[in-house]
Amino acid sequence: MVKICCIGAGYVGGPTMAVIALKCPAIEVAVVDISVPRIAAWNSDQLPIYEPGLDEIVKQCRGKNLFFSTAVEKHVAEADIIFVSVNTPTKTRGLGAGKAADLTYWESAARMIADVSKSDKIVVEKSTVPVKTAEAIEKILAHNSKGIKYQILSNPEFLAEGTAIEDLFKPDRVLIGGRETPDGQKAIQALKAVYANWVPEDRIITTNLWSAELSKLAANAFLAQRISSVNAMSALCEATGANISEVSHAVGKDTRIGPKFLNASVGFGGSCFQKDILNLVYICECNGLPEVADYWKQVIKVNDYQKSRFVNRVVSSMFNTVSGKKIAILGFAFKKDTGDTRETAAIDVCNGLLGDKAHLSIYDLQVTEEQIRRDLSMKKFDWDHPIHLQPMSPAAAKEVSVAWDAYEAAKGAHGICILTEWDEFKTLDYKKIYDSMQKPAFLFDGRNVVDAGKLREIGFIVYSIGKPLDSWLKDMPAVA
Ligand code: NAI
Repeated sequence: MVKICCIGAGYVGGPTMAVIALKCPAIEVAVVDISVPRIAAWNSDQLPIYEPGLDEIVKQCRGKNLFFSTAVEKHVAEADIIFVSVNTPTKTRGLGAGKAADLTYWESAARMIADVSKSDKIVVEKSTVPVKTAEAIEKILAHNSKGIKYQILSNPEFLAEGTAIEDLFKPDRVLIGGRETPDGQKAIQALKAVYANWVPEDRIITTNLWSAELSKLAANAFLAQRISSVNAMSALCEATGANISEVSHAVGKDTRIGPKFLNASVGFGGSCFQKDILNLVYICECNGLPEVADYWKQVIKVNDYQKSRFVNRVVSSMFNTVSGKKIAILGFAFKKDTGDTRETAAIDVCNGLLGDKAHLSIYDLQVTEEQIRRDLSMKKFDWDHPIHLQPMSPAAAKEVSVAWDAYEAAKGAHGICILTEWDEFKTLDYKKIYDSMQKPAFLFDGRNVVDAGKLREIGFIVYSIGKPLDSWLKDMPAVA
C-alpha cells in the first residue's frame, strides 16, 4: 500500500487529502499538523473548516484510509510521498518584510523530514512558494540526507475556497513539476498515478520545477488582476452613468476574454491573492525587474482603493458622518460558502467605518464573534510603507456587536453594507428590514447581490458598485 503523509491540516491539506483518500482506496493518507486543536477538530464532528461536501467525505474515509494526527514524525517516517501544505504567509519583519514569503514553516518541515526519514521519499510542494524554493529544499534535504534519496516535486493547488471539493473532483488541470532527470521523471509518474485515479490524463500537466512553481503565482496574479481591472472600471462606470454589469457582459462575450471572474465588488480578499502578488513583486524586484514589479503592485493598489472608495461612499452618502450611527454589516467572510476571513475586505471596511466612529452590528453565517473581534484588532501590515497600521482601538471595540441574524443586525440601523455574497442576502425580507431601520434607510451593496430596483421601490437609498447612482448619491459624491 502506498502511504501518503501531508504536513499541514489547513484549508488546502485537509480537503485535498480527503479527496485523495476518497478516490484512492488503495492509498493510506495521514494528515499531520503541529496544532493539537486543529487535529482534534478534524477528528471530531465539527471540522475546523467549512467547505460544502467536505463533512461527508471525511466521515466516509476517516479511520479507514484517512487519518488526522499530531504524530508528525511517525507518519513522515512511514510515508512514500510527503505533501508539504504548511502556511507561507508574507514576512512581516526583516529582509523583504511586507512582500517576501515567510518560509519558516516550510524550512522547519524540510529539516524535520531530513531528521526522521529512513527511506527514499518524494517530497511534494503543495504550499504556494516563491519560484526556486525547490532548490533550497533540495539543499536542506541533500545536506542532511544520511544516504536517503529525495525527489522534490512542485504540485501547486488551484482549488478555490467555497468550491474546494468541486474543484478537487474536477480540476481544470493538475500541475506537476519535477527535475528533468530519470529519477525526477519517475517521481512525476508516481504522483501522476495518484491523480490518474480520477483526473483524466489530458488534464495532468507536467513541467519543469520552476515553471510549476511560477505558474501558481502567475495564475493568482492573473485572477486578481481581472478583479482589479473590473473594479477599476466600476469607478469609471459610477462617474459616467455606465453600468458595470452591462460592461462586464459585453466584454466577457469576447471569447478571448471570457465571462468568468468579471464581477465588480468591494475588493478581493482571501489568504492568497495579495500575498502571492506581493511575493511575485518581491521576486521581480530581486531579479532586477522593477517595471514588472510595479505592474503587479498596481493590482493591489486598485484593490485597496476599491475598499477605501466604498467606505468613503458610505460616509459621504450619510451626510459625511457615520459617527454614532448604527451600520449593519452583512457578511464578514472573504467570500460566500467559507468561514475564512483572511484578508477579507470586511476588515478594512469595518475599520474604516469605526475610524469615523460608527457603531457596527455584524452578521455572518459562518464567522464567529471571537474571529471577528480578533480580525478587527489585528495589526495590519502596510506592504508599501513598512509601518503597522492602527487596528480597532479598545474604545472602538465597544462599538462592535455581533448579531445572530440579518434582521437583528439591521434593526434600528441607519445603513446596511453587504460585504459577502452569501445567497441568503438575496432573499431577505427587505420590507421587514426597511420598516425596522432609521430613515432615510441606506443599503450599500458591496457584492451587487440585491435587486436595487425593488429595494428602491421599498424606499431604500441603494448604492450598487459600478451601477448608475441614485440622485441622492449623485448629490453627495464620494471623495475617492
Ligand atoms: P493553513 O494556515 O490553513 O494551514 C497550514 C497548516 O500547516 C496549519 O494548520 C499549521 O499549523 C500547519 N503547520 C505549519 N507548520 C507546520 C509544521 N512544521 N509541521 C506540521 N504542521 C505545520 O494554510 P492553507 O490555507 O491550507 O494554505 C497552505 C498553503 O497552500 C499556502 O502556501 C497557501 O498559499 C496555499 N494555497 C492556499 C489556498 C487556499 O485557498 N487557502 C489555495 C491554494 C494554495
